[in-house]
Amino acid sequence: MISKMNNTQITLNIDKVFRCACKEQIFSQANIAQEANLLLESGRGKGSDFLGWLHLPSSIVNSVIDDIQKTADLLRSKCEVVVVIGIGGSYLGAKAVIEALSGSFINKKPLVVYAGHNIGEDYLYELSEFLAGKSFGIINVSKSGTTTEPALSFRILREQLEGMVGKEEAKTRIVAITDAARGALRTLADKEGYKTFVIPDDVGGRYSVLTPVGLLPIAVAGIDIKQLITGAVSMEKATGTDVAFENNLAAIYAVTRNILYQQGKKIEILANFNPKLHYVSEWWKQLYGESEGKEHKGIFPASVDFTTDLHSMGQWIQEGERTIFETVISVANPKCRLEAPKDEEDLDGLNYLAGKRVDYVNKMAELGTQIAHVDGGVPNIKIELPELNEYYLGALLYFFERACGISGYILGVNPFDQPGVEAYKKNMFALLKKPGYENVKI
Ligand code: PA5
Repeated sequence: MISKMNNTQITLNIDKVFRCACKEQIFSQANIAQEANLLLESGRGKGSDFLGWLHLPSSIVNSVIDDIQKTADLLRSKCEVVVVIGIGGSYLGAKAVIEALSGSFINKKPLVVYAGHNIGEDYLYELSEFLAGKSFGIINVSKSGTTTEPALSFRILREQLEGMVGKEEAKTRIVAITDAARGALRTLADKEGYKTFVIPDDVGGRYSVLTPVGLLPIAVAGIDIKQLITGAVSMEKATGTDVAFENNLAAIYAVTRNILYQQGKKIEILANFNPKLHYVSEWWKQLYGESEGKEHKGIFPASVDFTTDLHSMGQWIQEGERTIFETVISVANPKCRLEAPKDEEDLDGLNYLAGKRVDYVNKMAELGTQIAHVDGGVPNIKIELPELNEYYLGALLYFFERACGISGYILGVNPFDQPGVEAYKKNMFALLKKPGYENVKI
């Protein structure tokens, strides 16, 4: 069964789950998906204070897009390197899109690099050494404005930037993306007079890729944010409550993965056959992991890059515990064309591929893998994009967000909070002797 959206042209194929979850079973839950989708739309479900992402694509105003683009152009004109500081939802969306749509081996200007997503001393030191003598700028993203990892990185890199170019020039190269009124970053940005963008109150970090959080770094990387939004708008329409279940990719995906979960498939592996999609999977893992993993419930989201990981995780997927299902993101057409050449001697025995495109070999690997894994007891969902560009990627990101909201409600959790993330912070603050944490027992 292939569901094809009329305008997004992204397809979802669930034929290869039917040994585990039959079509009738999936369709019998159409009303459950519709109720979950209606709950999102009505704002009466759990976590309804955080539904600002739902109509974000269609409601972004041109003046905001223009402001983002103008700011990006300024950073592009001034900087060889732009450091995006943020963690979790405050950097993964940007990185997912930038890695997916940028050339892998070209000299990028500006080069976008990341900080504040770890506390690795060596990482930060090496980054600081790399930036020495280069003209660089900083986009500092933190909704709360108080997260330790980005705050620490910003303190170090801001000091370096000010030391290199002076406080006044540094101000023109620092952009803060944070809450409209609250938090340490807002206070600092207002005091210093940095250019700021607001993360709307009703949009959580992991749903923020289509706010300035994602859009500014993406525009700095030279990617067309208008096309990204246009793609997302088309998927917003195509997954609305007025769309019949059989045409609503997000609803079908949400129902299918929940049925598989009920049947003991506790792990979903998001697989791709295009290395550019690695960070889309990282973004997806946060989206689904943080949204669904609560109340001791939720599918564990894992990811692999094929064919690379067929040589590391392939054995487990083929013959390990049968608690997994696979969702493959497939890209129908590559941007470039490369054929295997003919070799007179054929010492490597590859002449049977002469004249064949590399992508043809990849596609046969994909098909061979699907058949092997399904035969091995791994249900397979396939999402196909016609090609990897701004439009389809925007549509894909929104598809996953909408499906995540529906899926979380089907599961019965609040898909928009993340109370569990606080546990490590409390202990870390107590261990670091942060004022106010003296009485925390570890
Ligand atoms: O999705 C989320 O809410 C989190 O991943 C946050 O984005 C992450 O913890 C960073 O938080 P903040 O933007 O407040 O620094």
